[in-house]
Amino acid sequence: MADMIVVENLKKDYGDVKAVDGISFEVKEGEIFGLLGPNGAGKTTTIKMLTTLLKPTAGHAKIAGFDILKDSTKVRENIGIVFQDPSLDEDLTARENLEFHAILYKMGKEQRERKIAEVLKLIELEDKADVLVKNYSGGLKRRLEIGRGLIHEPKVLFLDEPTLGLDAQTRRHIWEYIKKLNDQQKITLILTTHYMEEADYLSSRIAFVDHGKIVALDTSKALKNKLGGDVISVQFNKGVEELAKHFKSLKWVKTVARHGDFLDLTVMEGETKIPEVIKIAERRKATVISVNLHKPSLEDVFIYFTGKTIREEAGDQFKEHMRSRMRRRG
Ligand SMILES: Nc1ncnc2c1ncn2[C@@H]1O[C@H](COP(=O)(O)OP(=O)(O)OP(=O)(O)O)[C@@H](O)[C@H]1O
Ligand SMILES: [Mg+2]
Repeated sequence: MADMIVVENLKKDYGDVKAVDGISFEVKEGEIFGLLGPNGAGKTTTIKMLTTLLKPTAGHAKIAGFDILKDSTKVRENIGIVFQDPSLDEDLTARENLEFHAILYKMGKEQRERKIAEVLKLIELEDKADVLVKNYSGGLKRRLEIGRGLIHEPKVLFLDEPTLGLDAQTRRHIWEYIKKLNDQQKITLILTTHYMEEADYLSSRIAFVDHGKIVALDTSKALKNKLGGDVISVQFNKGVEELAKHFKSLKWVKTVARHGDFLDLTVMEGETKIPEVIKIAERRKATVISVNLHKPSLEDVFIYFTGKTIREEAGDQFKEHMRSRMRRRG
């Protein structure tokens, strides 16, 4: 398969802030490529440069064989974009929004009608096509935005946080549309997200982005295999700091990550190590309050590469959320 996207050492500085700090990757035709990272990682900035909306400080990129700086018009003809921030005209109907977009792309009347009908069918909005967008739910709006990105038959569709703020059920629906259009339209997709499950479910390959850099890039499976073991998530009543140090010194413990009272230990054959973990705690006069064993998730892989959970920087609210997730998982 040919490379549909080639990115070489792309950079964007905002004064002292290195929003994107030397990113390189390739995307093959027909792939769904995921950029996964926390708030402020540089995902949107990367997308903006690749879609010619923002000039890079340094580096190069080609989309469908066209250079983002030298052939920006050609690049724009070949891409569709769904922005992170909603950008529909709320006072128009779905059909009018699509029509307006098609006119911007200089499509003839006949071609417009055919394509609009086709897209409305694909995103299953035929019966709501003539309803004002301001009366749509969040999920319907997102679906319409994805449809709008497809009107001019792009080779590549960029989706910046396609399901941000949507409930779990609507998110699932959007995922199905994304899969469907990748299957049926053979379109190459590049999406950004900070939802692990989303990247895991949709992407053929995933790039972890953190502080403007790609810290890991591979298939979800290969990324998980890099951890080479299971994760024992264990909560102690006290002495977590000392226990973390001790576990770090043990040969059979591959990695140790601390979150409040919890330690995540990466080990081989986790089920056989749990008694030992409890014994170690007892020897140090600490009690194990809860223990959970599970196979690596993308979340664990992210912790492995960056030393933090993907939402850690979002504040205490999210830390609590992550803690309660860890308590539940297993
Ligand atoms: N126009 C701008 N001027 C100054 N700094 C900016 C600008 N746009 C982005 N930044 C900074 O660049 C960094 C990357 O931002 P970006 O929006 O690309 O992150 P992101 O990964 O898309 O985050 P999110 O998940 O919140 O959407 C952040 O530190 C941000 O504050
Ligand atoms: Mg963003």
